[in-house]
Amino acid sequence: TPKGTCLESVKIAIDTGYRHIDGAFVYYNEHEVGQAIREKIAEGKIKREDIFYCGKLWNTCHPPELVRPTLEKTLKILQLDYVDLYIIELPMAFKPGDAIYPKDENGKFIYHETDLCATWEAMEACKDAGLAKSIGVSNFNRRQLEMILNKPGLKYKPVSNQVECHPYFTQPKLLEFCRQHDIVIVGYSPLGTSRDASWVNVSSPPLLKDPVLNAIGKKYNKTAAQVALRFSIQRGVVVIPKSFNPQRIRENFQIFDFSLTEKEMKEIEALNKNVRYVELLM
Ligand code: A2P
Repeated sequence: TPKGTCLESVKIAIDTGYRHIDGAFVYYNEHEVGQAIREKIAEGKIKREDIFYCGKLWNTCHPPELVRPTLEKTLKILQLDYVDLYIIELPMAFKPGDAIYPKDENGKFIYHETDLCATWEAMEACKDAGLAKSIGVSNFNRRQLEMILNKPGLKYKPVSNQVECHPYFTQPKLLEFCRQHDIVIVGYSPLGTSRDASWVNVSSPPLLKDPVLNAIGKKYNKTAAQVALRFSIQRGVVVIPKSFNPQRIRENFQIFDFSLTEKEMKEIEALNKNVRYVELLM
């Protein structure tokens, strides 16, 4: 991220009406996000409690004794007293240390054996300490969610599971499981993400070029992006679109003045290819 871009984008987003901000230590721009929030509070535009900030526990910080210090580091970077939601970013752990992607001499990731349930207990302690209002997970499958839900002595269950979700990857089974357990699905890459082949599976066609999304958009005078976002929120999936472009930031917020018919929802659901853009091969 070019310096300052994130700061400006978050300020524009807040002015536009966005309140939910999805961040992470590994995005390396939390300092700018925190600054944007604090500036908007100082301006009197918002109060801290209007903002819903989600932070994430990275893979190298799963050992229980690292969880709270890691969150405290995030809070120091943000210069905020608490996050609204703190989530385990991925279910697998890497070797703790300064390297965010620790690799051995053959270039292979160095994993680390930890007990997800113990990590979860440390997350619960963060909530009890008031450092996180709510706690959740990300990239968890059903089996991994069940591990937490069935943990003896569970104090708080995950409030949310952040996973890839959009018209080409609709997650019907996971969505149903999470509904049954009152776990909110937060859909990342709701626009089909970027076309950066270093981490995106570009063999799957670009979502926003889809003829069905574009045809439905035409009817409502909306873009394919707006239709994709509307589709997700209408099925109860929280969306976290990313844009550093002021016009697109505003465009992605103009989704509350129209609704898709049941037939259109079905048509879009039928686009599901069960193929991820973000394969997370690690
Ligand atoms: P940019 O930041 O230049 O706007 P996702 O949220 O699914 O991860 O997608 C993010 C990608 O989609 C980014 O490359 C972003 O680029 C682009 N993008 C965001 N909003 C729109 C939009 N309304 N129309 C087209 N592309 C968009």
